[in-house]
Amino acid sequence: MPRIAITVDGIHYEEDVEPRLLLVHLLRERLGRTGTPVGCDTSNCGACTVMLDGKSVKSCSVLAVQADGCDVVTIQGLGANGAMHPMQRAFHEEHALQCGFCTPGMVMAAIDLLRDDPDPSEETIRQGLEGNLCRCTGYCNIVRAVRRGAQEMGQAVRTP
Ligand code: FES
Repeated sequence: MPRIAITVDGIHYEEDVEPRLLLVHLLRERLGRTGTPVGCDTSNCGACTVMLDGKSVKSCSVLAVQADGCDVVTIQGLGANGAMHPMQRAFHEEHALQCGFCTPGMVMAAIDLLRDDPDPSEETIRQGLEGNLCRCTGYCNIVRAVRRGAQEMGQAVRTP
């Protein structure tokens, strides 16, 4: 069985993994990252999105062995010192969730889309979140939350 080294939310792990084990199952079932949900297991819904070496990926579409040597950030590792990440706070303040199942993936995808465009238009946000499905909200508050999160993250960078 292959042994992989992986950093998750700043913690280093070495794990023996079946070659066919999916990253999302490693995260949830072995490493306690149950904040990353499984909505479909077929790469459709985006609920399982995490950051892999700084880019968002659907962790149900990545094998654990492919993440060997990588740095993973899940929704549980976003905040610092018990505080929410600005994008998490924006989702909270804009009421951008109902059941909350899609929210971890939405937040990760939203942060990723700001890497290319720190001040995205509504259209850019909607395109950037195309791979993340929400079955409750109708997306309006999600778009508002991403804009608000983008503003707060921009201010956080500009404020010394
Ligand atoms: Fe991975 Fe739906 S659980 S995309």
